[in-house]
Amino acid sequence: MNHPQGKIAALLTLTGALTMAGAHAGTFPDFGYGPPKSVYSGPLFRLSQDYPTVAPGPSSMPAFFKHLPTTFSNDFETWRSYMNEVKAYCLEGNTGIGWDVQKNKVRQWYHMPWQHYGPNGREGIRGLTKEAPIKPLQLASTQKGSGQTYAVGIYNDIGGYTIGQVWKDPQNPDPSYTSQPKGFPNGTVVCKALFADIDVTTVPFLANPLLWNAYTTKTFTSTERAVTQVALIQMDIAVRDTRVSDTGWLFGTFQYNGAVTGKANWNNLVPVGIMWGNDPKETGNAFTNPTPTETKINPALKQTAINANTKELPPTHLGWNGRLNGPVDNPQASCLSCHMTAEYQQLALMNPTFQANPPPVGGEEWMKWFQNIPAGQPFTPGTRSTDYSLQLSGSLANFYDWKCNHSGVYADGQNACAKIQPLNLMKASNAPEQEVHKVQRSPELEDLQ
Ligand code: HEC
Repeated sequence: MNHPQGKIAALLTLTGALTMAGAHAGTFPDFGYGPPKSVYSGPLFRLSQDYPTVAPGPSSMPAFFKHLPTTFSNDFETWRSYMNEVKAYCLEGNTGIGWDVQKNKVRQWYHMPWQHYGPNGREGIRGLTKEAPIKPLQLASTQKGSGQTYAVGIYNDIGGYTIGQVWKDPQNPDPSYTSQPKGFPNGTVVCKALFADIDVTTVPFLANPLLWNAYTTKTFTSTERAVTQVALIQMDIAVRDTRVSDTGWLFGTFQYNGAVTGKANWNNLVPVGIMWGNDPKETGNAFTNPTPTETKINPALKQTAINANTKELPPTHLGWNGRLNGPVDNPQASCLSCHMTAEYQQLALMNPTFQANPPPVGGEEWMKWFQNIPAGQPFTPGTRSTDYSLQLSGSLANFYDWKCNHSGVYADGQNACAKIQPLNLMKASNAPEQEVHKVQRSPELEDLQ
């Protein structure tokens, strides 16, 4: 373990005096796991944390906003050019600099603080966090071994402004900025690049892999770290758009296909699809496809559009009953299903299967995870929404875990937070007495503490 808890504590104490000045370089730690100099001497990850302190004006609106399709169809071809524009927006100025986004000459991007903390925290080369295991056969019928996923997400200036508001006082973050009547403003864009630590020779679409060095755990279940090479496998996008009536968000994803250019290249990312709602009335299970040999597109879904071009998109599993999910995502979930649970405190589980006795598939209890919830409305009444951002709910959970438990438990059995009035108030009086959950992408991570 190479977790500089002591350093974090010192940083936060020092910056306590700067609370009103907003966040600048050094306020929040860049990463939790730095590679030793003996094995890595290249550049290190820097957290982009100079969040705008004034709401960006109309000139910041992404140009692709003008090209949102006028009718929302489940025919992916009506979305293709829009998706290509969002992809270009995410990649422009970033690919040439290895996503060291503070060097981007086209537009500014920002990271979520407090992702360094805990066993899955950011590593020091690319800022990647540990995400989920890759199960045998999840990616392709030839993939017999297992693997793991790592990722880094970035917010544009419109979203970065809101992160800065929540974390204005680094000692007392305030999630009311992402809960109704507030929330991430129209025009917020989040892009996330996901990388696989897997034997790429067993996954046909990872031919000509685009590789990054990263300081990862040796295997998913190990806590020992090494500098490894991870392969670009997926890129997720999230766009806040007030014209999307049911959820206010569009979530889309791209999958790597090394055959597209025949070389290691970001242009090998081909669209999987886009979703703007969870199709709450569709309760079937026939299109769920955890070990894919083909992509099963469910025509009954009206709020998901999947790329049907099989020359371009390799066979892939999607999410529950064909709702959108990417190759390294959970086949029983969907992008919006997981993300609409984002709240502080995180009382909701992200997926109905993340419990000992899951409810019957497609039943009333199960379908709670496949409703449509408006942006900024919490999944669990009495909590505050973090507006579809699981990084934000995760970072708040990390921060309060550190703040509440770092100084130990008092003789009366209470921790530091139970002693402090403002922290008690963070929990709304009508919040149910329920267990608070860690914000983790997969339940297997629970076992790695
Ligand atoms: C099993 C639950 C789950 C599913 C399914 C899922 N995500 Fe996420 N996602 C997470 C968690 C947890 C995080 C925060 C930690 C991190 O960055 O990985 C996250 C982070 C993100 C982020 C960074 C910003 C944020 O909101 O936290 C984006 C963008 C994103 N996911 C998009 C997607 C898209 C697009 C899909 C579908 C293709 C998807 N996600 C499917 C759990 C999920």
